[in-house]
Amino acid sequence: MQDEFSLLREEIAVLKKTRNAIILAHNYQRDEVQAVADYTGDSLELSRTAASIDCEVLVFCGVHFMAESAAILSPDKTVLLPEPDATCPMAAMIEVASERKIWKTFPGYIEQPSFVFPHNFTLRDMKLRYPGVPVVAYVNTTADVKAESDICCTSANVIKVIESLPDEKVICIPDRNLSMWAQKNTTKHIIAWDGFCHVHDRVTKQDVLDARKRYPSALLMAHPECRLEVLELADHVTSTSGMLRYVKSSKSNEFIVGTELGLMYRLKQDNPGKLFHPLRTDMICPNMKKTTLRSIIRALRDNEKIIRVPDEIRGRAKMALDRMLDIK
Ligand code: 13P
Ligand code: SF4
Repeated sequence: MQDEFSLLREEIAVLKKTRNAIILAHNYQRDEVQAVADYTGDSLELSRTAASIDCEVLVFCGVHFMAESAAILSPDKTVLLPEPDATCPMAAMIEVASERKIWKTFPGYIEQPSFVFPHNFTLRDMKLRYPGVPVVAYVNTTADVKAESDICCTSANVIKVIESLPDEKVICIPDRNLSMWAQKNTTKHIIAWDGFCHVHDRVTKQDVLDARKRYPSALLMAHPECRLEVLELADHVTSTSGMLRYVKSSKSNEFIVGTELGLMYRLKQDNPGKLFHPLRTDMICPNMKKTTLRSIIRALRDNEKIIRVPDEIRGRAKMALDRMLDIK
């Protein structure tokens, strides 16, 4: 039976073949986009795939920093971002240097086991304040921020990355919640940036208590971009693909999902007998939802929306990404 997307899928299959293209999709993409992808995954898995896959064109269905990382890791490939306006607001919360001061404050954040650097400063200000302290950049950053950093991390490997460094003090940018989570799981001293993901940071302790009441038999999973007050009450804290693995290996049949709702697609596909409830029904990242089958077709057909990173930045950013990828 033909569904509303079948003709678009056929067109994509033909274009993929003519252009020797591979489609990568993040776990938060629309269902139909994940369905058409050659590989789906979390940020770490997609970076590894982008670095190793053999093709001429990579279509990155995700947000800008992800396609940029793919372009940094695979300079010989054409990397297409079907929706170039699909950006991550958290990545825009830190700049290397800036003439303008962005005087923003983020009230409502209390838990501070280590110093949180306010983001009316820049990364360079921070490095001057802490000379010699290594910078761990979450992959949710721009290429020039990565280029100014020592090593990258994702939500899947942040603790491993921090522990791999010989230093006792580490700067973690830009997600304050991921940093707080790391601080709880390492004896090192973490200096955090005051950035956050608006999709995960909106979840409160009360949301967890309410969900637990509504679904008393369910296990609760939370992404480390959630606040520490949420993470401390979760049964399991992990990246999006970490959640997929956790559910697969768990004997439990019911789960509360504390991340962007795009993950529901694969959770349900991979585990037809299990039940999934959103921790909040509004955990939707508008940028992750911008990519459609039509925009994939346009990108492949017109060869527009190519992501390019200037060589000087690319080389240094690649070192930070490679150091992360070298950690097994
Ligand atoms: P992961 O898939 O790496 O857990 O990433 C979450 C995220 O917010 C990506 O933007
Ligand atoms: Fe950025 Fe959050 Fe959207 Fe991920 S879910 S792209 S961190 S805003």
